[in-house]
Amino acid sequence: MNLHCAAHYSETLQCREILDPAMQTLVCQESGQLIGFAQLRSGPGPECLCAQQPAELQRLYVSKAWHGRGVAQDLIAAATALAGASGADQIWLGVWERNPRAIAFYRKCGFADVGEQTFKLGTDLQRDIVMRRLIRERA
Ligand SMILES: CC(C)(COP(=O)(O)OP(=O)(O)OC[C@H]1O[C@@H](n2cnc3c(N)ncnc32)[C@H](O)[C@@H]1OP(=O)(O)O)[C@@H](O)C(=O)NCCC(=O)NCCS
Repeated sequence: MNLHCAAHYSETLQCREILDPAMQTLVCQESGQLIGFAQLRSGPGPECLCAQQPAELQRLYVSKAWHGRGVAQDLIAAATALAGASGADQIWLGVWERNPRAIAFYRKCGFADVGEQTFKLGTDLQRDIVMRRLIRERA
């Protein structure tokens, strides 16, 4: 986890992501405090999607004190609307197979399992479930 955080999280890296035209970052604040965020990335996804223009929900995090209070659902709704407005036909994500809360949450939000992929966390090769939600039917 330390290796993963060192490689992917720093002020410089997040500034670069916020400025990256292929990424969109949504933040949720309460009284000036950041309580959650979501990041969308456009670009090709795994083959199992069969998508024309997929948008990846690359990150979704809500502060623990705010779990179960609708923040994550608001972020998903806003991210899906943004992806659709940008022309995406599907929104997809990879979730660690041993993250039951997130998997239950995504199913509740209408995401379905469509495949799997590997994710390297530090030196640990993990299995992620690929889930997606259609935004519009194929033309
Ligand atoms: C994933 C996350 C954004 C979901 O937000 P949330 O506010 O916790 O979501 P909710 O409480 O609305 O939904 C969670 C669902 O998981 C289920 N759940 C809750 N705790 C659970 C647990 N310990 N084990 C299994 N399922 C659980 C509940 O059934 C709940 O559904 P319900 O409201 O119908 O009962 C949030 O938990 C989070 O930030 N987690 C840490 C980061 C993370 O894992 N991000 C996803 C990476 S892909």
